[in-house]
Amino acid sequence: MSIDLLLGLQWGDEGKGKIVDVLTSKYKIIARFQGGPNAGHTLVFNNKKHVLHTIPSGIFHENKINIIGNGVVIDPVILKNELKNLELEGIDYNQSLLISRKAHLILPTHRLIDAASEKSKGKNKIGSTLKGIGPTYMDKTGRNGFRVGDLENENWNEKYSELKLKHQKLINFYNVDLDYNFDELEKEFFKALEILKSLKFIDSEEFIHQEQDKGSPILAEGAQGSLLDIDFGTYPYVTSSNTTAAGACTGLGVSPNSIKEVFGIFKAYTTRVGSGPFPTELFDSDGERMSKIGNEFGATTGRPRRCGWLDLVALKYSCKINGVTKLMMMKSDVLSGFNSIKVCTSYEYRGSNINYLPYDISDSSLKPIYEEFKGWGEDITKIKEFNDLPVNLKKYISYLEKELEIPIAIVSVGPDRTQTIIV
Ligand code: GDP
Ligand code: IMO
Ligand code: MG
Repeated sequence: MSIDLLLGLQWGDEGKGKIVDVLTSKYKIIARFQGGPNAGHTLVFNNKKHVLHTIPSGIFHENKINIIGNGVVIDPVILKNELKNLELEGIDYNQSLLISRKAHLILPTHRLIDAASEKSKGKNKIGSTLKGIGPTYMDKTGRNGFRVGDLENENWNEKYSELKLKHQKLINFYNVDLDYNFDELEKEFFKALEILKSLKFIDSEEFIHQEQDKGSPILAEGAQGSLLDIDFGTYPYVTSSNTTAAGACTGLGVSPNSIKEVFGIFKAYTTRVGSGPFPTELFDSDGERMSKIGNEFGATTGRPRRCGWLDLVALKYSCKINGVTKLMMMKSDVLSGFNSIKVCTSYEYRGSNINYLPYDISDSSLKPIYEEFKGWGEDITKIKEFNDLPVNLKKYISYLEKELEIPIAIVSVGPDRTQTIIV
């Protein structure tokens, strides 16, 4: 049985959590395949907002299985807090949440290395969420990582201590001032490990293969966005995992030919949180309006998100890399009330007009070239049917579909589960 895949096409925060929640009823299994608690996936239903960082966004539905895959990095302390929030909502996760033994753990020292590394970079910092993501993936690829399955070995503490020692040397190497109480951090970590150890660990690739053989529908949930991919994003201003479709294969152990639909999510405009190039970024009242109406503040760090027009060059690139089969356009409501809406259709670059992403999009000669569309004034947040959307929004949608040569299957008109138009 094939697997469907859902991932972000921009710099993250496209609304993946919302759509996974909306689609969960069609699947038996929801599986996160990469990233860690740098992610913040927001779900809104029954007038309440829920933010998930590590746990798949299918967790609020009954009789579903949620898997934290091998490609994910887990901070036990953050996971513990997420579980506590679920308990407050009366969600019983004991049967519905399964964790891959091969997932790597974020140790307190990973977070400190992240902080030291960022501090040492000064104005060139990545703008990391400081959740220890980079250092944990470094240990994974450096073959020094600490995995969930290690906790089943009675000598796990020795492995932990060895790694901690190595990390402490590295932290000292950076020679920057960091304010922390390590004993407190470690105490909190050990406490959280006990909670983690009470959860169900699985050989997730084997589990998934068996479910595939049974014909169970599976949805793979991505984190971050394609432009934050370690290989294809705006390096070095990226995260440390493959956020693109290939990441689902390595992050869950599924073969490329078992993937069927690739749902690509994008905002009707663009946002980015953290440092790095962003050709269509706005510094004017249009950008401020997007930020305000779109409530563009990070779900994990609360930092303001930078805002700008839709970048079709970048979007085409993401669609190609991922093999997107269906598009989902989010936050269309945020564009209501703009007199005109712009879309970047090519770049001026070193004296030429190009329509691809060059090696270095931070090159100061790179300027976006825009096409302009008439806006719409209507409030669309209560619209349920595609046909009832304003004519100019429908024109915008069909223009994008034509340019990208991929159908837009969902138009989202508000944060709530119900504010979702299936085309
Ligand atoms: P994710 O990381 O991709 O899951 O996205 P985030 O949850 O970080 O950010 C998306 C934000 O937009 C959240 O606050 C959502 O509640 C909100 N949101 C999602 N879809 C829509 C929409 O169509 N309209 C509006 N106004 N907000 C939306
Ligand atoms: P979701 O899943 C938006 C950004 C950070 C920073 C860069 C590296 O909610 O879409 P890291 O913590 O990985 O070292 O940060 O990546 N970033 C995100 N931006 N949404 C996310 O996840 C992100 N996860 C990381 O802001 O620029
Ligand atoms: Mg987010």
